[in-house]
Amino acid sequence: MDVRDSDATQEQHGDDVRTRWLEPGQIVLDRYIVDKQVSSGAHGAVFRGHTRVTLRPVALKVEHRDNSETDHARFAQEALILAKIVDRNVVKVLDAGMLEDGGALLVMELLEGPTLRAMIERRCGWLPWREAVRLNVGVLRGVAAAHRAGVIHRDIKPSNVVVVYEGSEQVAKVIDFGVAKHDSDSGFVALTVAGEVLGTLNYMAPEQLTGDPAQNVSDIYAIGVTLYECLTGALPYSGKGMRAAMAKVCGTPPAPMHPPVGAELWPARLSALVLQALHPDPTQRPPSADALADELEACLGESADVDAARARELVIPKGTSVEFVAMALPAGSLSSAAELEFIVHLLRGTARPFIVGPDAVGALLLRGGTGESASVVDAIVRAFRQRYGEIVVARERLEAGDSQWSERSVSDAAGRLAKRLSVPPPPPAQTSR
Ligand SMILES: Nc1ncnc2c1ncn2[C@@H]1O[C@H](COP(=O)(O)OP(=O)(O)OP(=O)(O)O)[C@@H](O)[C@H]1O
Ligand SMILES: [Mg+2]
Repeated sequence: MDVRDSDATQEQHGDDVRTRWLEPGQIVLDRYIVDKQVSSGAHGAVFRGHTRVTLRPVALKVEHRDNSETDHARFAQEALILAKIVDRNVVKVLDAGMLEDGGALLVMELLEGPTLRAMIERRCGWLPWREAVRLNVGVLRGVAAAHRAGVIHRDIKPSNVVVVYEGSEQVAKVIDFGVAKHDSDSGFVALTVAGEVLGTLNYMAPEQLTGDPAQNVSDIYAIGVTLYECLTGALPYSGKGMRAAMAKVCGTPPAPMHPPVGAELWPARLSALVLQALHPDPTQRPPSADALADELEACLGESADVDAARARELVIPKGTSVEFVAMALPAGSLSSAAELEFIVHLLRGTARPFIVGPDAVGALLLRGGTGESASVVDAIVRAFRQRYGEIVVARERLEAGDSQWSERSVSDAAGRLAKRLSVPPPPPAQTSR
């Protein structure tokens, strides 16, 4: 079993013994010069480099030192598989070979942009729905090209998608065919044994989890999870690791899709399509990646409807209270993307960030009023004071009582807090960007 729990590709970690280090300036395969390390994953490390003569930038993916025989063979096979697929939404392979010490090396076009994982994290955990749909349509088109070439990717997830600009257009590129499977009878080594489970737990289709062979629609499932996450900021099964996997395998329906507070509403048909991609029965999923991409593209022309508006209601159990803290920061603090990124990171896992006004930020914690949440709020305020100096703080505890929570209750509270901070209130649909 070669399976990971979550979708995390480590960024440069200089002190590990697994990574096969390529030194800046080192010449590999006689024709590439290494610049610097970009990232390190489960099976290999990726370096930026350039061609020796024409100085064109390239990405060099080298396998780890401790890769097993099978991993080594898979690594070498990734180049052959990638060479079969020529598509705008799939990374291009340029070359491959062996280093002097026997390590396999894959040379690709250098994709200069963030992974979809990095993009989601930088932007409060979710993306505006049209952007999420457009990017995932790109992923589907790339995967459709792979399927036409007889390749199943088997590990689609946000960290295996890189988003680049081509002119003014954002283009999603599928990468990492390291555990992909080619269905041809010739030229490829059979590297999957029956019952072997490969991939990343949270994104894996139920049939993959039970050890059945992956099919084209297993990739569609993984794209369904990716799109669900891009839209809502959450995974369809929220339990940790095996618990979520069991729920999936047992056919438990995914958590209902709620647009995050502050997000523009999307058409109900979009939620229906995502849930269809997540159907536990592979035969009930959209029949092909292109078919789902076409349907999603059609959604882009639609607007939100009443059903989606209902789905937007915040689901907070009756009787739960919420602690809302707002802080007025020095003027201009929120004008830089880096500063917003810092705030999102600071609050991650503890509270939901809100923009309360032009220079004011808020944080919302469920189960407010308990001693624990009060001390979390104190810690948040301390962290903000450390960074921004003297700041004005306003706090409010909202009791859910018997009534259903709505986004309205939260934006009303944001408005009240803005008043107490003496800052202009937020515009209605902009509470969390
Ligand atoms: N062609 C490329 N251009 C630029 N960056 C790339 C390229 N290919 C990969 N990367 C970066 O390197 C990371 C790891 O690459 P990849 O996913 O192919 O390796 P991996 O070892 O299989 O990783 P993991 O096991 O974490 O999925 C990617 O998430 C991406 O950030
Ligand atoms: Mg990867």
